[in-house]
Amino acid sequence: MEYAAKSGNPEKQRVACVIVGVFDYRRLSEAAEALDKASGGVISAVLRRGDLDGKANQTLLLHNLPHTLCDRVLLVGCGKEREFDGVRYREVLRTALKALRQCSARDGFSYLASLPVRGHDLGWKLRETVLASEALAYRFRAAKDDEGRDARLRSLTMGVDSRRTLEEAENHLRTAEAIAAGTLMARHLGNLPPNVCTPTYLAEQALALAAADPAVTAKILETADMEALGMGALLSVARGSRQPPKLIVLEYGADRDETRPIALVGKGVTFDSGGISLKPGAAMDEMKFDMCGAASVLGTFKAVSQMKLPIHLVGIVPASENLPDGNASKPGDIVTSMAGKTIEILNTDAEGRLLLCDALTYARRYEPEVIIDIATLTGACVIALGHHASGLYSNDATLAKALLAAGEATGDRAWQMPLWPEYQKALDSNFADMANVGGREGGSITAACFLWRFVEDQRWAHLDIAGTAWKSGKDKGATGRPVPLLVEYLMQQVARA
Ligand code: BES
Ligand code: MN
Ligand code: ZN
Repeated sequence: MEYAAKSGNPEKQRVACVIVGVFDYRRLSEAAEALDKASGGVISAVLRRGDLDGKANQTLLLHNLPHTLCDRVLLVGCGKEREFDGVRYREVLRTALKALRQCSARDGFSYLASLPVRGHDLGWKLRETVLASEALAYRFRAAKDDEGRDARLRSLTMGVDSRRTLEEAENHLRTAEAIAAGTLMARHLGNLPPNVCTPTYLAEQALALAAADPAVTAKILETADMEALGMGALLSVARGSRQPPKLIVLEYGADRDETRPIALVGKGVTFDSGGISLKPGAAMDEMKFDMCGAASVLGTFKAVSQMKLPIHLVGIVPASENLPDGNASKPGDIVTSMAGKTIEILNTDAEGRLLLCDALTYARRYEPEVIIDIATLTGACVIALGHHASGLYSNDATLAKALLAAGEATGDRAWQMPLWPEYQKALDSNFADMANVGGREGGSITAACFLWRFVEDQRWAHLDIAGTAWKSGKDKGATGRPVPLLVEYLMQQVARA
């Protein structure tokens, strides 16, 4: 899809479909008003007949409006004007873009971004448009016959108020395309079947990112390298698998070495059967999504590299399968992590923290400004927060606040959970420095506490994305979250510097 910005009157646009908003009750937006005038009152006559009141998410497609150059006009209900906020904008946008894709228009021209939205600027509105449009255009299978009509739309132009904002708008669109590309990359990696998306495949994706941009470097640590580093926790997860584990190390903007990097660490379990502590069979296929943390790191690198964000970023992905096998870890096994702390593995299904603890220790070598880890870590987080918010834990209030704000701004929201030392007791072990599980109660919190033991005073945040990284049911598929949150956070860091 191609995106552009253009100023000018709606009746003068020579396109297949112009999109304009109508507020409740029968109140035309500026662009709708212009079309109504040009056509001699056709739109107001249609509204008077009662075919559309302007209630949120109503749509009506009009053809061949007199004295206009477009083939169609799509009227979209925006609800009450004073209730038109960011959430409503997003909803209405999605409705409009869906309707646009359903007609056979090859190009669209939307005036929705010129509607004032409380608390949001033009950049935000354009970004949301591109992200929503790209999300709707994405299909896991590139060519599915029954959705052939979808393939028609090729370009979307956004009407902006004046020529003076055009250049700014084009810049916003390029940024938005980069975020969308990163989000879709994460989504696609998540959706790939686990016999394709193995640790080796993830490593290849990292190498491809590096090959495409001289600002990105990728280094892959193999089993022997990890053995030399003493990553006993990470390696214990891979013991039950025929697929070799990989520790993927990405770096972007390393020439900005005067700045300490921001480090992203993403859980990359390409399939989580639970190991010897085998999961029940129902919906086990969804454990192919257990690498969505890793995917979000790769996707964020993709976005940052495409938009050439001036930042120094390190990405670390411990990648492995978690399978049962004669050689797999057993409940009761004790392993020694890279940090030297010993761990009693009471449940082989709590494998994410075993990978992450060594990856976090490794990340500290870069003396990062902050470390953010992203992981589909616990089913308990889904019980606590459902599917709308990612669980956020942090030992640093400033970092937590910035991540929460980035989530709000993008709609890719997080909710802060308690990281209190009181919860640490649950991880006590009679046989090692700690156990890898802390019981059912507060399961997402004790998992975060486990990771905390390995970052200590290093500024750090942990995003438990078990509830947000993918959808189940008839819409089953990865979401690409939390790439929008992460990129927004990084952009904010650049803006602040
Ligand atoms: N990848 C899972 C977490 C998960 C489960 C995410 C279901 C989304 C849906 C993780 O490795 C895991 O198995 N966690 C266990 C931890 C438990 C053994 C303490 C869990 O949540 O059951
Ligand atoms: Mn598990
Ligand atoms: Zn897992």
